[in-house]
Parts: sequence; structure tokens; C-alpha cells
Amino acid sequence: VQQRRTLAATPHYDIKKVGVVGLGLMGHGIGLVSAQAGYEVIAVEAQAPALESGKKRIDKSLSKILSKAVEKGKMTLEAAEKEKEKVERRITYSLDLAALRDADLVVEAIVENLDVKIPFYKQLGSLVKPTAIFGSNTSSLKIGDFAAPSGRPQQFVGLHFFNPVQLMRLVEIVRLHETEPAVFETVRGYVARIGKTAVTCQDTPGFIVNRLLVPALVQAMLMKERGEASVEDIDVAMQLGAGHPMGPLHLADYIGLDTCLFILEGWVKKYPNEPAFIVPSSLRALVQGGKLGRKSGEGFYVWEGDKKVKPA
Ligand code: NAI
Repeated sequence: VQQRRTLAATPHYDIKKVGVVGLGLMGHGIGLVSAQAGYEVIAVEAQAPALESGKKRIDKSLSKILSKAVEKGKMTLEAAEKEKEKVERRITYSLDLAALRDADLVVEAIVENLDVKIPFYKQLGSLVKPTAIFGSNTSSLKIGDFAAPSGRPQQFVGLHFFNPVQLMRLVEIVRLHETEPAVFETVRGYVARIGKTAVTCQDTPGFIVNRLLVPALVQAMLMKERGEASVEDIDVAMQLGAGHPMGPLHLADYIGLDTCLFILEGWVKKYPNEPAFIVPSSLRALVQGGKLGRKSGEGFYVWEGDKKVKPA
């Protein structure tokens, strides 16, 4: 009876149409996994070239996933071609935010900048139907800071995916004090349907994963700065001793040292009394010298494409 009552009270939160805004590294993956799960997807970008490259990224990634399935004998070539068509047909592309007006869930994956996100959410809140749920993929910003400007904090969650979205199985659902229980449950249903595992936390900096991970990267950098161990030994130690797939300095290079610095500087400014948030001077110096890790070819390691070659 209790379950029937809950369901009866919340039919308006059924998700059929998923809007994705920002088709960069994260957003294209979120759009793709949603379409693969059978959702109708409305994919929105701000500029025509970004829309075009987002579409290309989705097409390329879908082709790759399907040809792997064929290679592994999980699918015939014919079935893969049909599936590709089916998934592609579920996605529509637009440069107009108003295309999201009847979306049931809008996942935002635009640039990590509060000055961009706040006006974006103000506009989104005024354009999209009142029963739609908003989910932000922000990694380091406080969800509450733009949930309020959206005008619907009760229908707002953090929906934090991991890169690459197509492969990583976790989604952190950030629940605000204002988030309605029915909204939270509906979002949980979406995460399950796209085949991911959901964990939940409050609107705390870094949520669960980055709150624990980023300070670990910082400690590895400080250890290196103090000369207590080499770059390689720090990484091998955490791989073989703690079972991490990648050591912390390797991972920092992989993420991008500019991204690590950006996140840390934001946290230090916003949470000056949190002792875990420190900006290592070596990190700042590397970024100032244009050494950003994998993407620039050098960071804690020297890189050739996607492969680390030796410590820098
Ligand atoms: P990105 O730079 O690859 O993509 C952002 C996209 O948003 C760009 O294509 C840009 O054209 C578009 N955009 C910017 N302003 C827009 C607007 N007003 N309307 C529509 N589109 C707009 O960035 P990325 O890495 O995909 O990050 C997006 C969000 O996801 C950020 O909030 C970031 O913190 C978060 N995130 C990033 C992860 C990562 O590993 N890169 C992991 C998890 C979350």
C-alpha cells in the first residue's frame, strides 16, 4: 500500500526524454549511454563547431563499442548495424536550449565555471517544463550554488559521471537537502537503467571519489617534493601495495595537471579551513611551465601520445 501511494503521488517524474547539454569529453558519453539504454536524447551545444564535433564523437564511440561487440562474437555485423541506426535515431542535436523544453531529465556537462553555470541554470529553469529534473555533472563546484538559480532546487541533483563515461561504472548522485525523495528515486532509476552503479552523498566538496582521491594525489606530490621517494616508486608502491590500477602521479598526469590545479585552487579558496586541500608548489610550477601531463607530453612523466615513457 505504501509503495502504491508513493507511485501514485509521483507519476510526473517518469524519465523518457533525456537532455544533455555540452557534448565535450563527458557530455557526449552521457548522451550516448542514455541513447543506448533506450532513452530519447536531446543533445545541445552552444556553438555549431562544438555540436558537430560532439556528434562525431558520439558516432565514433558508438561504432567502436559495436565493432568490439562484433569482434568478441557478442553480436553479428548485421545486428550491430541495426543497433547503430536505432541508437542514432534516438538522438537529436540542437544549438537551441529551448529544444529541451519537454525533457524529463537534463544532464548538464558544460564548462566547470560558476560564472557560466549560474546564468545557464537561470535560463534553463525558465525554458524547461516545470516537472523536469536537472542533474549537474560538475566535479568540483558546489551543487547548491547553481541549484538555487535554476529555480527548482527540489528537483536538482548532482549526477557525477566518470571519464570515460562509456566504461566507468560509477555515478555519484549528490542529494541536496532540498532534493525531493521522489526525484532522487527517479534519478536512481535512470542510473540503473544506463547500467551504472549509483552511490549517494551530500553536497560535499569532491563528493566521495574526488574528496578522497585528490588529497591522495596531493600527498604523493608533496612526498616527491620532499625527496622521500621517486616518482616511479611512489606509483609502483600504490599499484602493488594498495591495488590501485594507476599510481597517483601517473593518474595526476593522466587527468591533466592544469585540471588538478584548477580543482585544488577552487577548493582552497572556497574551503580555506579544510586541511586536506593544499596546492603543492611543484604542481603550480609544472603548470606554469606548460607541463600539463599527458596532454602536453610532459608532467611528472614524459609522454608519447597516451603512453608514459619515463619520469620527467
Ligand atoms: P569539455 O570542455 O570537454 O566539454 C564542455 C562542453 O560544453 C564543450 O563542448 C563546450 O562547447 C560546451 N559548452 C560550454 N558552455 C556551454 C553552454 N552554455 N551551453 C551548451 N554547451 C556549452 O569539458 P568536460 O571535461 O566534458 O567537463 C564538463 C563538465 O563535466 C564539467 O563540469 C566538469 O567538471 C565535469 N566532469 C569532468 C570530468 C573529466 O574527467 N573531464 C569528470 C567528471 C565530471
